[in-house]
Amino acid sequence: MNYENILSDYSNGITTITINRLKKLNALNKDTIQELHDAFDAADTDENTKVIILTGSGEKAFVAGADISEFADFSVKEGGKLASQGQALLFDFVESLSTPVIAAVNGFALGGGLELAMACHFRVASSNAKMGLPETSLGVIPGYGGTQRLPQLVGKGRAMEMVMTAGMIDANQALNYGLVNHVVELEELLPLAEKIASKIMRNSSVAISKAIKAINANYKDGKDGYKVEIKQFGKCFGTEDFVEGTTAFLEKRKADFLGK
Ligand code: COA
Repeated sequence: MNYENILSDYSNGITTITINRLKKLNALNKDTIQELHDAFDAADTDENTKVIILTGSGEKAFVAGADISEFADFSVKEGGKLASQGQALLFDFVESLSTPVIAAVNGFALGGGLELAMACHFRVASSNAKMGLPETSLGVIPGYGGTQRLPQLVGKGRAMEMVMTAGMIDANQALNYGLVNHVVELEELLPLAEKIASKIMRNSSVAISKAIKAINANYKDGKDGYKVEIKQFGKCFGTEDFVEGTTAFLEKRKADFLGK
């Protein structure tokens, strides 16, 4: 597929999606959000893609936020629609994908950029990365899930402080907060994400997709995560991957899992 604002490349089981609006520090405009939806959807339904890596182009920004120029004159109704459509099309969509998504945060991840990184299943960052939710400095609040996912990841008090001060934290503080799992030099960032992806790919994609559902259920109101876990656990017993995984263990050989 041809995209204007992003790149999507497949290699060795990994689809790498790169947000590519260098001159606007990869800010998320409407078209980019739609293209990201399409690229994530295509990668998730692609049998060969076992892991998706999301990053930003250049050495300065992952994503510097939602494109402020697009919503500066919005009404109350338009503001609400912007948030609800964006959440459905991209942020909730990414979080619920059955293919693992790793955010490789390669610079500024601000506002919608941090919200997008937080919607991914986990994050790794380069040492130059800076993260924050600066919306209150613009007279607005995070609208792409930031008020919910930031406290889930870093705790309520830290999230309150980050949102109220509109300040940025550096990569090491993000590591300390548990917002990112690893920090490396910029040139090591994609190799690290790929190394983690290769470890994921050794395991059953079918089981991993069920684990994502069960873990996500812990963060959804009205869902009993334990019940979801029981259901997904039970379902595993009906899969070919379960037969292969347990048989391989008993036969003392490496499991050869099927596709997704
Ligand atoms: N929306 C739209 N355009 C953006 C943008 C955003 N969120 N972030 C950066 N840009 C644009 C700038 O307007 C500038 O465009 P121009 O060259 O046409 O003027 C270009 O990207 C480069 O940004 P610039 O501000 O010149 O870079 P900088 O190195 O001086 O500062 C930042 C980098 C990230 C600190 C600064 O761009 C910034 O604060 N961006 C907005 C962050 C934000 O509030 N995000 C939340 C939005 S809800």
